[in-house]
Amino acid sequence: MVESYSKNANHNMRRPVVKEEIVEMMRTRQAQNTGFLKELEEFARKENIPIIPHETTAYFRLLMQMLQPASILEIGTAIGYSALLMAENSPTSTITTIDRNEEMIGFAKDNFTKYDTRHQITLLEGEAMEILPTLPDDSYDFVFMDSAKSKYIVFLPEVLKKVKVGGLIILDDIFQGGDVARDILEVRRGQRTIYRGLQRLFDATLDNPDLTASLVSMSDGLLMLRKNVETVHLSTEEI
Ligand SMILES: C[S@@+](CC[C@H](N)C(=O)[O-])C[C@H]1O[C@@H](n2cnc3c(N)ncnc32)[C@H](O)[C@@H]1O
Repeated sequence: MVESYSKNANHNMRRPVVKEEIVEMMRTRQAQNTGFLKELEEFARKENIPIIPHETTAYFRLLMQMLQPASILEIGTAIGYSALLMAENSPTSTITTIDRNEEMIGFAKDNFTKYDTRHQITLLEGEAMEILPTLPDDSYDFVFMDSAKSKYIVFLPEVLKKVKVGGLIILDDIFQGGDVARDILEVRRGQRTIYRGLQRLFDATLDNPDLTASLVSMSDGLLMLRKNVETVHLSTEEI
């Protein structure tokens, strides 16, 4: 039994932002995982561990095969599922992945020992905001941000320093089950910090000429950002 995630975890994964039958189709008709990725996906589902859902898996498979990014940074490892998925589909990439949850780190280490056969993945243990400044600038082609959503806007200025011009950043779960499109007063009080953080993220990125941004309505929403210039000017004011 995994302690970190309760039965009620992943609340927004059960509030799809596209029609439920389309979600079902995306999850059942797109090529299923095989081998250890299937095993890890099933384990995460059974234990309520919030890994990327199947539609994002299919999308990442395609992206990785097409882009073959030399250097990948991930914030939010959990059991190592998305890191191993990226490694499988981009065999020459090096992947640095960060997590602070000791229980998840334990699972991820075991899984990397067993399945990262090409030794592509480095796991950095600790708080992302402390680790990010220690990483080299201008060195990543692809960043996957899949950690606490309210912190995306806090991490982003540091992440942007680490990405090469032309590099791609994907931020997961940015629609809050549709709450982000509502007035804050319609959002449950316990969700408002996340809401505010995500609104600041949208204000700072969606219309920023230093970035090319695209919102993708997949799973609970992806925000995709291309870094267009060396120094990105980001307004990160609190509202
Ligand atoms: C959604 S899970 C990651 C799932 C994984 N990317 C996958 O799809 O297989 C989020 C993870 O981010 C980690 N996390 C959240 N905030 C963090 C922070 N500030 N620093 C480091 N890790 C963090 C949590 O411990 C958790 O394991």
